[in-house]
Amino acid sequence: MALLEVQGVSRYFGGLRAVDHVDMVVGEGELVGLIGPNGAGKTTLFRVIAGVYPPSAGQVIFNGESVGGLHPNRVCHKGITSTHQVVRPFPALTVLENVLVGVQYGNVRSGDPRQRAREVLEFVGLAHRADVLARNLTLPDRKRLEVARALGTGPKLLLLDEVIAGLNQTEAARTMDLIRSIKRQGVTILMIEHNMRVIMGLSDRIVVLHHGEKIADAPPEQVSRDPKVIEAYLGESPVSA
Ligand SMILES: Nc1ncnc2c1ncn2[C@@H]1O[C@H](COP(=O)(O)OP(=O)(O)OP(=O)(O)O)[C@@H](O)[C@H]1O
Ligand SMILES: [Mg+2]
Repeated sequence: MALLEVQGVSRYFGGLRAVDHVDMVVGEGELVGLIGPNGAGKTTLFRVIAGVYPPSAGQVIFNGESVGGLHPNRVCHKGITSTHQVVRPFPALTVLENVLVGVQYGNVRSGDPRQRAREVLEFVGLAHRADVLARNLTLPDRKRLEVARALGTGPKLLLLDEVIAGLNQTEAARTMDLIRSIKRQGVTILMIEHNMRVIMGLSDRIVVLHHGEKIADAPPEQVSRDPKVIEAYLGESPVSA
């Protein structure tokens, strides 16, 4: 069943078509990768889905309900949460308090919020940093905190914007394991990442954007052989010059 349906969504900034008539479906329980060159419109599409920008045209349907143009807080309460490409925890709050903000902003009404925040920290492997101020975290831990804050809201659909970029191989492998375990918990995931090994290794399906338009939507092995994708993004023209 489709959890998210993006129907003819465009987002313009003045004359710039950052997202141009994109159709996309994400099924319940699926992990879909979103790739494309810098400036392709990936983050903008996330922001439209999360309610940060209203679509200039088109519809965002979540769980059968139109959510395009709703305030981000309402979208979050429906069950969609996004991480930020540039991580921005509250620096003067502790790690636990940062997650607590997510829990209280979000979707989960039952139980003790502190207890829930602790469980999320345990799940992402940050429990030992619970009382550290967020400003004192390393980049890998800040990225993990960004995921924890998002998970704290209790999302059905989690949008991950480059949570692995900038990590070394060991940290990247750890975060890939974390993403797999989030998926096993039944959370549907749409993720942006530039690292092909990561995106090919995790995704059930990959959507490719180029100049705001969708140019491919297929399983990883098919996308990696698609001449349009190779030319636009993977860097080697299949046609010799
Ligand atoms: N708030 C904004 N105002 C004006 N232009 C914007 C705004 N946000 C994004 N853009 C432009 O929209 C286009 C798409 O940007 P976007 O950040 O969505 O790309 P991206 O695919 O996420 O790229 P990257 O891989 O570098 O993160 C770019 O040309 C960008 O400069
Ligand atoms: Mg981006």
